[in-house]
Amino acid sequence: MSVEHSLDVGDVGEVWTSLVAATTERTPFTLGYLGTVASSGEPRVRAVILRAVDERRGVVAFATDSRTAKIGELSLDARAALTFYDPDRDVQLRLDGRAEIVTDTVVRREIWEGLAAGSKRLYDTPEVPGTRLADGVSDGLGTGDGAAFERFAWVRVTVDAIDAVDLSGAEHIRCRHTRGVDSWASERLVP
Ligand SMILES: Cc1cc2nc3c(=O)[nH]c(=O)nc-3n(C[C@H](O)[C@H](O)[C@H](O)COP(=O)(O)O)c2cc1C
Repeated sequence: MSVEHSLDVGDVGEVWTSLVAATTERTPFTLGYLGTVASSGEPRVRAVILRAVDERRGVVAFATDSRTAKIGELSLDARAALTFYDPDRDVQLRLDGRAEIVTDTVVRREIWEGLAAGSKRLYDTPEVPGTRLADGVSDGLGTGDGAAFERFAWVRVTVDAIDAVDLSGAEHIRCRHTRGVDSWASERLVP
């Protein structure tokens, strides 16, 4: 671990900067693990790409297919958790918040236009994610029925708390940052 890449997990500004960086370049924090609560009460976790971060508002966002299980789960229970891990810095970030499935077509269209063609193509299939693949069907991509944009969902998570852990040194450091009215309250925790 090089010094210039170290991250002060006690500094919420640095934590947010590291998340912003993960959306402008590929960093270990670009891939996170999203936890939701299923209607049965069971936890569900899956990988998602961190697509956007609004540091000022304390909001992170990801893209998904509107027909995925996670969208159904977040529609019923907005509580969301996201975990990121950087093996180079040995830092884990755990974000807790509330998800909003964006319905504003103008916003969705703007985000959609910024997606790479390869990402857009993922939505270009009438087959519903997570359903049984019919016999003999190939990859299910690129059927070109033109409804890809309709299937595209943009999810914002308003972060209420961040639990940040740095295990890189001899002394492990753990800090909790909690959203206040107009600033974050930070405290050191026992790791
Ligand atoms: C490296 C990687 C990145 C992924 N990124 C996303 C993503 O940004 N959005 C997404 O919906 N699914 C993404 N997935 C797929 C999900 O992990 C998951 O399999 C899929 O969305 C279905 O999840 P669900 O049934 O729980 O909704 C990614 C998977 C991998 C392995």
